Amino acid sequence: MTTDGDLKKRRAAQAALELVKDATTIGVGTGSTVNFFIEALAAHPGRVRRAVSSSAASSVRLRAAGVVVLDLNELSDLDLYVDGADEASAARHLIKGGGGALTREKIIAAAARRFICIVDDSKLVHTLGKFPLPIEVIPMARTLVARQLMAGGGRPVWREGFVTDNGNHILDVHGLSIADPVALERDLNQITGVVTVGLFAVRPADVLLVGTAQAVLTR
Ligand code: A5P
Repeated sequence: MTTDGDLKKRRAAQAALELVKDATTIGVGTGSTVNFFIEALAAHPGRVRRAVSSSAASSVRLRAAGVVVLDLNELSDLDLYVDGADEASAARHLIKGGGGALTREKIIAAAARRFICIVDDSKLVHTLGKFPLPIEVIPMARTLVARQLMAGGGRPVWREGFVTDNGNHILDVHGLSIADPVALERDLNQITGVVTVGLFAVRPADVLLVGTAQAVLTR
């Protein structure tokens, strides 16, 4: 069954496809919105020949769409990266990692010259933090990191039973109202045992494509 949310996601994904016309190799993220983007790639064979993928799940879909999946280390250059988000602000700061692929997503975002984020309008927020902030941690440091997050006012919840593609655990931090995303990202990155913080503010998206019921807004 196709929902209104799916239509909005598909619309944003289609708009992203228009922006990748000249890109031979792109980065591709993870999630239901990106799945619509991969579907759009499959419908336009040859538009993108090669991609770096942020997850095993997206790699499978990309290969099925006829796209060659490369290791980032094989490339000297990555023109653009297309990915979704769990929350996005007007400053194009993001919370990501709902699907657990945040570490590879952050690496690809850092490598790409342009980061195009595709979301439906339910993801737009004034202040980030209603969506629990995912933090990937080294398994043996899980409770150590959790205690420090609690001391900082957050309520970390272990995503029990979930192991990332990198063999790590995820803490979802509830109860944050993120007034200064850049500062918080930098602070959380200092906690020993933290692998990746799902805040994308130090390196925000360059373009935000927001699918609505009527159109696609560009921020
Ligand atoms: C994956 O780890 C996330 O960062 C996704 O980009 C995010 O969860 C968006 O997913 P949806 O497109 O399914 O909402």
